[in-house]
Amino acid sequence: MNVHQEIAAVKSPPPLSPEVASESRRPRPAPGQEAPAIQPKLTVEHLNAWYGQNHALHDVNLVVPPRSVTAAIGPSGCGKSTFLRCLNRMHELIPGARAEGTLRIDGKDLLGRDVDPVTLRRRVGMVFQRPNPFPTMSIRDNVAAGLKLNRVPGDHAEIVERTLRQAALWDEVKDRLGASALSLSGGQQQRLCIARALAVQPEVLLMDEPASALDPIATAKIEDLIHELKERYTIVIVTHNMQQAGRVSDQTAFFYMGDLVEVGPTEKIFTNPSEKRTEDYVTGKFG
Ligand SMILES: Nc1ncnc2c1ncn2[C@@H]1O[C@H](COP(=O)(O)OP(=O)(O)O)[C@@H](O)[C@H]1O
Ligand SMILES: [Mg+2]
Repeated sequence: MNVHQEIAAVKSPPPLSPEVASESRRPRPAPGQEAPAIQPKLTVEHLNAWYGQNHALHDVNLVVPPRSVTAAIGPSGCGKSTFLRCLNRMHELIPGARAEGTLRIDGKDLLGRDVDPVTLRRRVGMVFQRPNPFPTMSIRDNVAAGLKLNRVPGDHAEIVERTLRQAALWDEVKDRLGASALSLSGGQQQRLCIARALAVQPEVLLMDEPASALDPIATAKIEDLIHELKERYTIVIVTHNMQQAGRVSDQTAFFYMGDLVEVGPTEKIFTNPSEKRTEDYVTGKFG
């Protein structure tokens, strides 16, 4: 079963509001991608990104199905992090940086003037390479930080427990929620950051090399967690570790020097890619 069939089998999407339905066109799949059977969660069309004069992403086209994991791979400096930051509009926070193109979530334009980037970032959460818990806050307050920021009413204790369970950290911290976040190991801190991202109930989770600073056991825990999270969330993960991409993702996108060279089912990208550059990279001829 390919990823699209798998997803279609799990759940059909809720009916579109007339506003969204009228706005959504059939997205153009990137080379190597099949036409999606269901409404994609994210649609990227003709995305270009710059840092001043440096044209860092060239006409990227990509469709991300809901409740799936997409891995972005490629050598250092090829634009993976830039791509991820465009998806929740963090790219535009960098002085001199800009992006053009069409980005849609559930068919609705993300780059439109009427879209509030703060609201968008609540729907599209991000986890970074180095665990970055708020150092002066307790474990509990770290998880609740986004709720307070977004003025979410109600019982934060209940949400804190639920998200810590989702992040597979609850059993390890339930007796010391008031302790400093810095008292946790690196792997626990990263799961805390995932819990913090999940607490505001995003729909999409972006992860930029989330395990690259962790030991193999902590890495395995993060990978297991990604498997569980994709039941509910749409995940885009950057990884320089090809074995990891193979283990966690449904589709893989290979970037090289600012181009999205090829995207397709992960197994195909690793065993039978269409492009020579992809093959050379996944077989370790360069990196
Ligand atoms: N904050 C930044 N300011 C200026 N240039 C940047 C910045 N971040 C990345 N770049 C440039 O954009 C290109 C892509 O970088 P990046 O997206 O970080 O690649 P990757 O994540 O694949 O290693 C590189 O040429 C890099 O030098
Ligand atoms: Mg990067």
